[in-house]
Amino acid sequence: MSREGEKVTAERIRSWKGRSEGLPALTAYDYPTARFVDEAGVPLILVGDSLGMVVLGYPDTTYVTMEDMLHHVRAAARAQPKALLVADMPIHSYDDEETALRNAERFLEAGAEAVKLEGGREILPQVRALLRRGIPVLGHIGMLPQHIREEGRYRVKGKTEEERGRLLEDAKALAEAGVFALVLELVVPEVAEAITQAVPVPTLGIGSGVGTDGQIRVLHDIVGLFPWFRPKFVRPRAEAGEAIRNGILEWVRAVRERRADV
Ligand code: KIV
Repeated sequence: MSREGEKVTAERIRSWKGRSEGLPALTAYDYPTARFVDEAGVPLILVGDSLGMVVLGYPDTTYVTMEDMLHHVRAAARAQPKALLVADMPIHSYDDEETALRNAERFLEAGAEAVKLEGGREILPQVRALLRRGIPVLGHIGMLPQHIREEGRYRVKGKTEEERGRLLEDAKALAEAGVFALVLELVVPEVAEAITQAVPVPTLGIGSGVGTDGQIRVLHDIVGLFPWFRPKFVRPRAEAGEAIRNGILEWVRAVRERRADV
């Protein structure tokens, strides 16, 4: 399948705000998945640190290293997507401004065109430093998987007035700093909608209802490629895991039966 159209930039994603058409975004972690997503016309590909679970078999994203991420960003970049290619900065890769700059530059060298960081006002110095260097930043607030060890479980955010206020202020501060879009993960749908109305950049919801400007998902969740765990809010559109399983079983049968069609 051909990939027509212009190369997507962070500015083009930013200008999606206000469009009636929803903004789709998906993760991809290597050459074939980046090609599949790009050929479907998805304008934003995130090499997410979710690869820690769905590709590398770690228990959560806190095990993911810069080296893991760089390896997969390089592979996805070889697909030369028309989509904007965003690299997820793993835990501790943006603890301070200097560390964030050094690691973001490594992602750009690996082929990424923007980076994503988890957090609100507490990471504004890092976000501002990256933007000053001309590196586009995708924000990410709500449930922050890199904080799973402190939090103990994946919990919906925005249930209390205090949390709702904090999310709104974080979103406004990140937008004001200059992020080109904002991921809202596991945020109470009404709060996600209120944030969407309050900020001038597109919001990408995940497990946060349908009131956001767009939606972002882990590719493996929507195509059934990681059947061993499926978040509650996911509605898979394919069962790729089943197709693989059946393909393997059928080939194994052919070999065992010494068939001619192996
Ligand atoms: O790592 C990831 O895949 C993500 C998205 C699901 C937003 O952060």
